Amino acid sequence: MKLCIIGTGYVGLVTGACFAEVGHHVICVDNDVAKVNLLRGGGIPIFEPGLEELVRKNTTAGRLHFTDSIKEGVEKSDVIFICVPTPRQPDGSVDLSFIEKVAREIASAIDGGYKIVVDKSTVPVKTGEKVAETIKRYCKAQAEVDVVSNPEFLREGFAIEDLMKPDRVVIGVTSQRPVAPLREIYAPFNAPFIVTDINSAELIKHAANSFLALKISYINAVAAICEASGANVEEVATGIGLDARIGRRFLNAGLGFGGSCFPKDLSAFIKISEQLGYDFQLLKEVERINADQMERFLKKITDTLWVLKEKKIGVLGLAFKQNTDDVRMSPALDLCLRLQKEGAALRVHDPRAMEKAKAVLKNVTYVDDMNAVADGCDALVIATEWPEFKRVDLERAKREMSHPIIFDGRNLLDPAEMARLGFVYKSIGR
Ligand code: UDX
Repeated sequence: MKLCIIGTGYVGLVTGACFAEVGHHVICVDNDVAKVNLLRGGGIPIFEPGLEELVRKNTTAGRLHFTDSIKEGVEKSDVIFICVPTPRQPDGSVDLSFIEKVAREIASAIDGGYKIVVDKSTVPVKTGEKVAETIKRYCKAQAEVDVVSNPEFLREGFAIEDLMKPDRVVIGVTSQRPVAPLREIYAPFNAPFIVTDINSAELIKHAANSFLALKISYINAVAAICEASGANVEEVATGIGLDARIGRRFLNAGLGFGGSCFPKDLSAFIKISEQLGYDFQLLKEVERINADQMERFLKKITDTLWVLKEKKIGVLGLAFKQNTDDVRMSPALDLCLRLQKEGAALRVHDPRAMEKAKAVLKNVTYVDDMNAVADGCDALVIATEWPEFKRVDLERAKREMSHPIIFDGRNLLDPAEMARLGFVYKSIGR
């Protein structure tokens, strides 16, 4: 199939590269000319494991092209995927101005025939209808257009894996005509293919992400009870997770969830529900527990170190999770800012996110070697679940720290081993 992807962020670029990988002809459009030129030169504007090779392979094979012209993309394609940002507004609602603008531009670029416009960006329920109205209003040519909702379920850091082997593909339609072409596009991925109406498809996205966030807040609340009762939250998570109806994933207690999706999708779902006349108290509680997780962790630090002013604290992790350089809504970064506000001097390290963190986190020492972060510190904090932090040089930390104190916000280290090594070790729910 000839496909056009509008927006080359981590969803659009990964989607375009994977569609090309399975044999489709893909043209990716971005209004950022510098980004288009970078991509044409084989550069990648974001870190996503495996993406650089995938883009290079498919560009070389002639299946993947980049342009800054929507007109070119639309004219050369049968199916156009909208993958532009839908940022969170201060009041929690969603900024749909990029979606509306692209819908108008697609409409004016359509010069006839039959086109399918697919909304992959995460949008509030009932957005698809507005996109369809907008395209109808601004399309001057004699053309037939069907609008489809096709939400993405990609985790940053695992986006290629999640798209090449999806748990399911969801499309929302208002007529049967676009179903066969969409089936053809996704056939190579061999995944369950759900066809529903547009509103249900849009809601599936928000309902899924909010449920995943709920799982995380639930296990973080259970962790607080484990701490108060001497239980171990990892044992509890394993014990309940073995129930197939619950599942072990997304039951890792820690500093809480962040990123460009969960916080935004939660507040959007709460806002939409309010506008539809339902007060989603449960999700408000998910948000509250998540915010409280940071306060609880900070209290662990102040309970142990007392005054933070003039203390030197090492922090391992700045990204919102492992396998990404993204620091948007990162609990790790928020923690650093809070410690700094209390007057602590920070030495920080992240395998990938230091460059992006430098734009937000100033007046700290960025350390290239994770094993040197603890040097001369009064405490070491683990804030992001990078697997390599499990192998941090603890002997050196014990030697170089003023006192061997570790706060583990992602439960990466083993409490028994830390006790044996003589560390004051605080973690979550254990
Ligand atoms: C999420 C959804 O997983 C994905 O399906 C959707 O398409 C986009 O949003 P993402 O935000 O990239 O993906 O990351 P995810 O792996 O879901 O982690 C989100 C946050 O939850 C991170 O801050 C992570 O550290 C935290 N988390 C995750 C936990 O605290 N505990 C867990 O058990 C899992």
